[in-house]
Amino acid sequence: MSFGPRPLPDEYPAEYAQRVGEWYASWNKPDKALGQFFTPLTVARFMAGLVTRESGFTRVLDAGAGLGILSCAVCEALEGDIALEAYEVDGAMADALETTLAYAQQWMDACGRRLTYRVIRQDFILTHGEALVRPTAAPFDLVIANPPYFKLSRTDARARAAEAVVHGQPNIYALFMAVGAALLREGGQAVFITPRSYAAGPYFSRFRADFFSRMRPRVLHLFESRQEVFADVLQESLILAAECSSEDQEVLLSSSTSFAFSDVTRRIKPLAEVLGADNVLHLPLSEQDDAVAKIVRSWNGRLADYGMAVSTGPVVAFRAADLIDSHGDVPVSHAPLLWMQNVKPMRCAWPVRHRGQYIQLRSADKVLLPNQNYVLLRRFSAKEERQRLVAAPYLGDLDGAVIGLENHLNYIYRPGGRLSEDEVRGLAVLLNSSLMDAYFRIFSGHTQVNATEIRRLPLPPLEAIMELGRLAADSPAPSDALMAEALGLYA
Ligand SMILES: C[S@@+](CC[C@H](N)C(=O)[O-])C[C@H]1O[C@@H](n2cnc3c(N)ncnc32)[C@H](O)[C@@H]1O
Repeated sequence: MSFGPRPLPDEYPAEYAQRVGEWYASWNKPDKALGQFFTPLTVARFMAGLVTRESGFTRVLDAGAGLGILSCAVCEALEGDIALEAYEVDGAMADALETTLAYAQQWMDACGRRLTYRVIRQDFILTHGEALVRPTAAPFDLVIANPPYFKLSRTDARARAAEAVVHGQPNIYALFMAVGAALLREGGQAVFITPRSYAAGPYFSRFRADFFSRMRPRVLHLFESRQEVFADVLQESLILAAECSSEDQEVLLSSSTSFAFSDVTRRIKPLAEVLGADNVLHLPLSEQDDAVAKIVRSWNGRLADYGMAVSTGPVVAFRAADLIDSHGDVPVSHAPLLWMQNVKPMRCAWPVRHRGQYIQLRSADKVLLPNQNYVLLRRFSAKEERQRLVAAPYLGDLDGAVIGLENHLNYIYRPGGRLSEDEVRGLAVLLNSSLMDAYFRIFSGHTQVNATEIRRLPLPPLEAIMELGRLAADSPAPSDALMAEALGLYA
C-alpha cells in the first residue's frame, strides 16, 4: 500500500517519516483532541541515540506512534533485528504510518536486517492499562514515545483504566509513560519526550511513585523553552531515558534551548542528587545550580518545624461571584479582598485597579480569614516573568477584623497562633530571594507554585529567618543583599 509521497533514493527512514509528516500536515490539520504534534527529526534521532545498543533482536513499542518517526529513528540507531508494535488510534494517521514502516522495513532489508511490525489501531491505554496492576509477561525491550498531552477527566475511560497512577486530574502523557514502563522486561529501556510537569508537584506524585519504583533514570535532557520544540505547548519539554532496574546509577543531565542541539550542556550527577523526596526530579544544570542546591539543602527546617503552615486562599472567585464587589465599605459591610495582583515582591498594594477588591462580610463564616499577619505568595507567574516566587509580608494593616484571600494566592500562617512581624518579613525576604527562586527552578518547570512545594522547601533556622526580618524592617535593601548579610551567604 502506498500513502503519501514516495521515498527518495537512499533516503533514511526517519527522513522519509518526516517528509510524510509534512505532507500529512499540509492537508490534515493535527487533531488537538488526540494531542497530535510530530517530533522533529533532530529530536527523534537524539532520542533513539539514547538507547543503549544491543546487537541482537529488540522488541520495540512505539506508543502513540503518529507517522512513526521515532520507530524509524530506532531502526536507524540499533544494529540488530527489530519486532515493532506501533499503537496509533487515529485511522488516517495509522494508514500513513503503514507507509513509513513499510519503507523502514525495505531499508532494513537492504541493510541485511529484519523489521517485523504491527500497526495496532487501538487505544494504547485502554488496551494495556491493566499492566499497571496485573503484571503480564513483560514483552518489550524498549518503549519509545512522544505521547499525546492533554488533561483527562477522572471519569474518562483511559483515566479509569490507569487508575493506579491517577491523582486529581491526570494528563494522558503520564498514563502513557506509566503503562509503557509496566510493559518492559527487567533491564528494558524507555525513552520519552513529554512536558516537564511530571517532574514535580502533587498531581503527579502517584505517577512518580509507580514509575520510579520500576525505572531508574539514566539521561534527562531538558529543552529550556517549550515553544521551540512544539508550538502551542507552554511548558518546557523533557526527554527521559530510563532503565527498568532497581540499581542506582549516575544520571547524565543535559539541556539545550533549541532542537537543533547547538548549545548542549552536559553533566553527570549521582541519582541521589536528581531523584529527591517524593520522587521529585531535580535538574541542576549548571555549577551555579549546584551551589544553590548545596546551600539550600544544608538547611534542615521546614515550615511545620516552626509551627507554620501554608494553605491556598479560600475565596474561589467564580463560586463567590455574588459576594465580590468593586466598591465596598470596609469594615462596615465589606472586607478587603486580595488577589495575585495585590501581591508585589515584598509589598502588598490594596486597592489596585483590578476587579473585585471587596468581599461582603456576609461570607465571613465561610471564606474570610482573621485579619492578621501572613506571608502572601502568588501561585502563578507569567512565563516571561523573571521571578517564579513572589512573596509579600502582610502585617494585618488593612481595616477590619477579617480579610479575603483569593484562590490564586497561597498564604503562610501559624495555626492556632500568630506569626510575628519578624517571621513574616524574614520569610518574605527568603522567598523573594534569587537563591530560593533558583532552587525552585531546579525542580519546578512550570509557572505554578504549589502549597506542597512550599511545605517541603528547606528553610534556615528560625532565628536566622527572624534576623532577616529585623534587617528587612530597617532597610530598603533588596532581598539578596539582606540574605547575604543575615545568612553569610555570598561572602
Ligand atoms: C504527540 S503525537 C506524537 C506522534 C509521533 N510519535 C511523533 O513522535 O511524531 C501523539 C500520537 O498519539 C496518538 N494517540 C493519541 N491518543 C492515543 C491513544 N489513546 N492510543 C494510541 N494513540 C494515541 C495521536 O493520534 C498522535 O498521533
